[in-house]
Amino acid sequence: MKSFTLPMVALLASVLPTSWAQTHTACNPLNTTGCPNMEALGGNATFYWNKTGILTGGKIWEKQNQGTIDWSEDAKGATFTIERSGDSPMVQSKFYMLFGRFEVIMKAAKGKGIVSSAILQSEALDEVDWEFLGTNTTHVLTNYFGKGNTTSFDRGKEYGMAPPQDEFHNYTIDWTKDRIQWWLDGKMLRELVPADALNGKNYPQTPMNIRMGVWAGGDVANNDPGVVEWAGGETDFKEGPFTMAVQTIYAKDYTQGAEYSWEDMDSSGSWEKVKVINPTSKSEILKEIQDPSGIRNNWKALSAGAKSGIIIGALAVLGILVCLLIFCCIKQRRAGKREHAALLAGEQKEAAELQEYKKQMQGGKFGFGSHTNRV
Ligand SMILES: *[C@@H]1O[C@H](CO)[C@@H](O)[C@H](O)[C@H]1NC(C)=O
Ligand SMILES: *[C@@H]1O[C@H](CO)[C@@H](O)[C@H](O)[C@H]1NC(C)=O
Ligand SMILES: *[C@@H]1O[C@H](CO)[C@@H](O)[C@H](O)[C@H]1NC(C)=O
Ligand SMILES: *[C@@H]1O[C@H](CO)[C@@H](O)[C@H](O)[C@H]1NC(C)=O
Ligand SMILES: *[C@@H]1O[C@H](CO)[C@@H](O)[C@H](O)[C@H]1NC(C)=O
Ligand SMILES: *[C@@H]1O[C@H](CO)[C@@H](O)[C@H](O)[C@H]1NC(C)=O
Repeated sequence: MKSFTLPMVALLASVLPTSWAQTHTACNPLNTTGCPNMEALGGNATFYWNKTGILTGGKIWEKQNQGTIDWSEDAKGATFTIERSGDSPMVQSKFYMLFGRFEVIMKAAKGKGIVSSAILQSEALDEVDWEFLGTNTTHVLTNYFGKGNTTSFDRGKEYGMAPPQDEFHNYTIDWTKDRIQWWLDGKMLRELVPADALNGKNYPQTPMNIRMGVWAGGDVANNDPGVVEWAGGETDFKEGPFTMAVQTIYAKDYTQGAEYSWEDMDSSGSWEKVKVINPTSKSEILKEIQDPSGIRNNWKALSAGAKSGIIIGALAVLGILVCLLIFCCIKQRRAGKREHAALLAGEQKEAAELQEYKKQMQGGKFGFGSHTNRV
């Protein structure tokens, strides 16, 4: 327990130079004014990373850091891979939840010093965690932080389980203002109530987003010896690549609204000071999830069969149009030719008639004409 509970935020705040720097907040609303509003989820959604891979054009999830995030049929999900020193691929949701539920079906990465994590975190540095060490095949760590307070007493707790690196498991966090529950495969492992978190002061209660990532705590080039030890020892990158896989994520925001704002926040950091913008409307993110914008996204979402159906249909319509056009042209040209021929025939007829007329006049067939001619 002692060595396993070194808090992530402590690493972020002080030790880790680059890899997890982004989990450090860009704007801490407790000591900064004008921190930007956060997009709310304001509803529920399932993300099938086993089917579609991951990043929906960056509109819902954002990749962070060096390292590969990919998708593979073999891995049955999105893969987060560490290949070399400095890799720590991570994605974070652009949406936030003010109390909510987060379920992830994932498989932790193997490897000495490799840490997989599935966390909720707020810009005020509230945090609720699942963490997995690559070489610990018997335990998972649950942890939480309130307002970035990293003083470690009994926040981190480990639970025995089958090797999290071998199979996919369902890790669920259910978070309300009254309690936080950690569930593993349908079994509740832990419940935290505000009274047990420094009388609520250390209780996570500001809008949090989802962050999934893997990093090398055992990377001696980037980490202090204490971190390397906590992570399970020095990482040998030649033994890599080290891959975490994520199949599906389900998220449900327990608050409805478009955005969350810090404008009424004070030093209490209380959820009651979080302002919900447009509490009756649907958030832009939820609209995007339910009805992805743009033809490109819709097209990408179609099955191969549907795509070829549409292509064949379009080609057929094009074919018909071309045929019609050709048909009309020919008809038009034929009609033109006929008209031209008729015109020509008419002219010839007229010319012939004139000729005949002249002949007749010259032949004195008409008295008057001949008379005149004679004059
Ligand atoms: C895994 O973690 C548990 C809890 O901290 C610890 O008792 C156990 O020794 C660890 N196992 C390994 C292989 O590190
Ligand atoms: C605000 O607090 C955070 C975390 O406690 C700290 O890292 C940061 O330097 C502070 N910023 C200001 C402007 O005081
Ligand atoms: C998710 O939201 C939809 C409406 O968008 C609702 O019909 C459904 O019941 C919700 N599911 C859960 C599990 O909350
Ligand atoms: C993805 O995961 C879901 C939930 O576990 C499952 O129902 C579905 O069949 C999976 N899809 C693929 C393509 O593996
Ligand atoms: C941090 O939490 C510890 C107990 O976990 C508490 O003793 C301490 O006062 C807290 N610090 C702050 C600044 O709230
Ligand atoms: C994961 O476990 C939770 C809690 O037991 C359960 O409610 C949920 O339906 C499970 N989710 C999936 C995707 O299996």
